[in-house]
Amino acid sequence: MSSQNPFGIALVGCGTVGSATALLLTRDAEHLTQRTGISFDLRYIVDREFTRAKALGLDENLFETRLEKVLADPSVHVVIELIGGTTVARDIIEKALRAGKHVVTANKALLAHHGADLMAIAQANNVAISFEASCAGGIPVIRALYDGLIANRIDALYGIVNGTCNYILTQMIQKGESYEQALRAAQSAGLAEADPHLDVSGIDSAHKLAILAALAFDQRIDFEKIPVTGIDTLELIDVTFGNELGYVVKLLAIAKRTEKGLSLRVRPAFITREHPLAWVSGPFNAVSIYGHAVGHTMYYGRGAGGSPTASAIVADIVSLALGTAQSSFQNLRVWPDRTIEALHLPIDQIESRYYVRVMVEDVPGVFASLATILANHSISISSVLQKEPEDDGPQGVPVVITTHRAREGNMLGALREIDALDVVRRESVCIGIIDEHEETVEGVNA
Ligand code: HSE
Repeated sequence: MSSQNPFGIALVGCGTVGSATALLLTRDAEHLTQRTGISFDLRYIVDREFTRAKALGLDENLFETRLEKVLADPSVHVVIELIGGTTVARDIIEKALRAGKHVVTANKALLAHHGADLMAIAQANNVAISFEASCAGGIPVIRALYDGLIANRIDALYGIVNGTCNYILTQMIQKGESYEQALRAAQSAGLAEADPHLDVSGIDSAHKLAILAALAFDQRIDFEKIPVTGIDTLELIDVTFGNELGYVVKLLAIAKRTEKGLSLRVRPAFITREHPLAWVSGPFNAVSIYGHAVGHTMYYGRGAGGSPTASAIVADIVSLALGTAQSSFQNLRVWPDRTIEALHLPIDQIESRYYVRVMVEDVPGVFASLATILANHSISISSVLQKEPEDDGPQGVPVVITTHRAREGNMLGALREIDALDVVRRESVCIGIIDEHEETVEGVNA
């Protein structure tokens, strides 16, 4: 049981997630106390203005603009940072840690870039940072990694960790909308930001991958070394061809342990309709984790939005109030001095199957040239799809090829040669095909 009862809380940043958190901590206070025996005392809501907080009827006595006053108050035990970004938020978190406050944050960009430094500051000040809400919103996947799956050597992790992108891709797949139409639909549904760059470029997913992979593999991940491809250049024609071949497209965050290092990347990829991640639609997230003892586990739920994210934030606050978060944090291998730097597998050595669409002039010998180039790069063709041309316009006709497993470096080399052919009308499209990860369960199973 915590020695700090009531447990004093300051919330910094009262946007969508902040206001949902404030509501959960105030309206549901009795429920939390009943379950934990602790009284949770939201003492301050810190922001520059309080329009949203006022509209929601939050107690105006809690509103405060002076962070210094909040950090000097000994009745505040935890600061929740919900400002976002890597500048002001970093400053607030560092000040809070140095003032001896625990920190709860949903800030994946900050943790992906500066997590190790912040952990070290927390360690030096004998306080904890909890960050369940940073990855996959309301899904307790961080806890799964450091707690429920602790007996496992994690071999691989596959995540659909950006709800905006998954919503856009679902619109393209199910409604036949172009990327631009689907993005507008996401914005009207209140999902995509006015500037959706971080989401659609794949960077938000890569931030989350960096955090999840660090916990899964006990290694220090260099965010800059994660190859990232977003969904912003995806064309409907490839979604449609993929569908004909039995695939759905998903933006996947992938982390695998290989003999030569960690294979990490974010990319749109085709998966079969039977793949466990294929039915994760709309704004939902899911993370598949493969452990050597447990085999395949999968975590599913809402990865964004006020209440789901607040659910994860309040879980962190409860763990801090109970004292369990502190001991996990002290023992977790998240400290820079306890973890080894990850050996990242270079992108040209990552292996996958591929879908390739080449736009060609419909003349004899084209297919033979494509097949020869692929064979010269040790790439074996698995299937070929070419439609009767409706018209051989300036864009050419599409030839769609799927391949067996090949090295990315070989594929990129082949594509450079293919795109240099006179008969090829525009840059070819190449999308990875991700097979379901092979589950290995070691030990006694019967
Ligand atoms: N923008 C993110 C998403 C939510 O769309 O999933 C916060 O991480």
